[in-house]
Amino acid sequence: MAALMQALRKEHADMAVLLDLMDRQIAQFQEGAAPDFDLVRGIIGYFLTYPDLYHHPKEDLIAERLRSRAPEQAARLDGLHSSHHDLAYLTRRLATATVDQMVRPGDEPRQWFSSLGRDFVDSNRRHMAMEEEHFFPLALQVLSDHDWAELDGFVAADRAEIHVRALHDAVLEQVGSA
Ligand SMILES: [Fe+2]
Ligand SMILES: [Fe+2]
Repeated sequence: MAALMQALRKEHADMAVLLDLMDRQIAQFQEGAAPDFDLVRGIIGYFLTYPDLYHHPKEDLIAERLRSRAPEQAARLDGLHSSHHDLAYLTRRLATATVDQMVRPGDEPRQWFSSLGRDFVDSNRRHMAMEEEHFFPLALQVLSDHDWAELDGFVAADRAEIHVRALHDAVLEQVGSA
């Protein structure tokens, strides 16, 4: 299997573990117990960065290739890119709600955190299930070895670019504080 698809499946497995942990924290909170906010913030911190920077762009790249190879079959993936935006927005709202209910006592912030937390877990699970049931199998069925080799190459190049940017920023920071 293409390295890219293996990476996506591993990332889904990692996210599923975090969503299970978050699910338990939200359930605990809804039963009136205090959640582990260090854990909750750690999970949200991961979702605020990793999926947007590394996971969703790889899926968008594959979906784009699928659209050019099998437009009719790929039509069902039309909402994929906007789903990624919606999930990113939901994570940001949950991050705000988490801080809000920690600093502002009362029922309203508690309910906001609780319902967004539930929505966050359910929406991410639904999204990943759709990808594993429809998107990934279609990609494996339609795309050729040549397509996968090219896509693997793009992702490798993209990682290098991110690495270079990080170095660039670190240097600028050093210059700024010198
Ligand atoms: Fe996705
Ligand atoms: Fe995904």
